[in-house]
Amino acid sequence: MKVALGADHGGFRLKEEIKKLLDSMDIAYEDFGCTCEESVDYPDYALPVAEKVAAGEFDRGILVCGTGIGMSIAANKVPGIRCAIAHDTFSARATREHNDSNILALGERVIGPGLALDVVKIWLETEFQGGRHARRVEKVREIEAKHLGVK
Ligand code: RB5
Repeated sequence: MKVALGADHGGFRLKEEIKKLLDSMDIAYEDFGCTCEESVDYPDYALPVAEKVAAGEFDRGILVCGTGIGMSIAANKVPGIRCAIAHDTFSARATREHNDSNILALGERVIGPGLALDVVKIWLETEFQGGRHARRVEKVREIEAKHLGVK
C-alpha cells in the first residue's frame, strides 16, 4: 500500500506523527506538505493528495488540518474521492467497511495524537465489505457523474 499525506499548518504536527506510525507499519508514503507550522491554505494541500489518489498513483490518502473539515470538503470535490472525517475508531472502521473511503481526514485540534494514530491504523487495516455497500458506493459515483459531468 502507498499513502499520500497532506496537511496545513493546523495539522502539521499530527502529520509528522502519522509518518512515524507509517514507518513503524512499514507502509510507503509520500508527504505533499506542508513543511512547517507557518500559515497556509488547506485546499493547496488537499488537491495534490486527492488528485494522486483519484489517479491511482496512491492507494489511500490522509489529510490533516485543524478540524479535518476543510480538507474533506476540498478533497471530495475531486471525482473518485471518498474522503471521510473520522475521530473515533468505530467510524474509522465503518467508513472503510461501508463507504470504501479512500482518504481519511483528521482534525489535529479535535483529537489527541493517541486516538488519532489508533484511528489511522484501523482505517488503513480495514477492508471494504462490498456487497450491498458496493451498490451504495456505486450510487454515490452516479451522483458524482451526474453533477460533475464525469463517467
Ligand atoms: C486553519 O486555521 C483552519 O481553518 C484549518 O486548519 C481547518 O480547520 C479548516 O477546515
